[in-house]
Amino acid sequence: ALERTLSIIKPDAVAKNVIGEIYTRFEKAGLKIVAAKMKHLSKSEAEGFYAVHRERPFFNALVEFMISGPVMIQVLEGEGAVAKNRELMGATNPKEAAPGTIRADFADSIDANAVHGSDSLENAAIEIAYFFPTTDVYAR
Ligand code: CMP
Repeated sequence: ALERTLSIIKPDAVAKNVIGEIYTRFEKAGLKIVAAKMKHLSKSEAEGFYAVHRERPFFNALVEFMISGPVMIQVLEGEGAVAKNRELMGATNPKEAAPGTIRADFADSIDANAVHGSDSLENAAIEIAYFFPTTDVYAR
């Protein structure tokens, strides 16, 4: 089915100047960028976005990392977009990410892991709404 998912290029990958290379991977896989913005998240925005992880031991480090520089946030649309994006990203820990995935190629650690992608269609809808009003999402 035609789906939409939320993708974030994290501060490490933005600093490495690989936004374009990552966008090319999305496009070559048939994912269309239907909304996008660069943003330096505030602490409360990052905490709110990752609220499901609030009780995890890595929560504070995750939030500090996510506000360490600007991120590039986009909505990707395509057939099976949620799973397709997760396939392109590779495992959360770059040491476990398959060769040729975004994290294998651009990530340095489980914290500085280059990209975020929604893990389910339900969370995709929540995460998209967190950053983009409906009127700022195009195509379809
Ligand atoms: P992300 O997909 O953005 O979702 C939560 C993030 O927490 C994850 O990517 C990692 O960058 C970070 N993180 C740090 N430690 C862990 C861990 N042990 N398990 C899962 N995520 C972790």
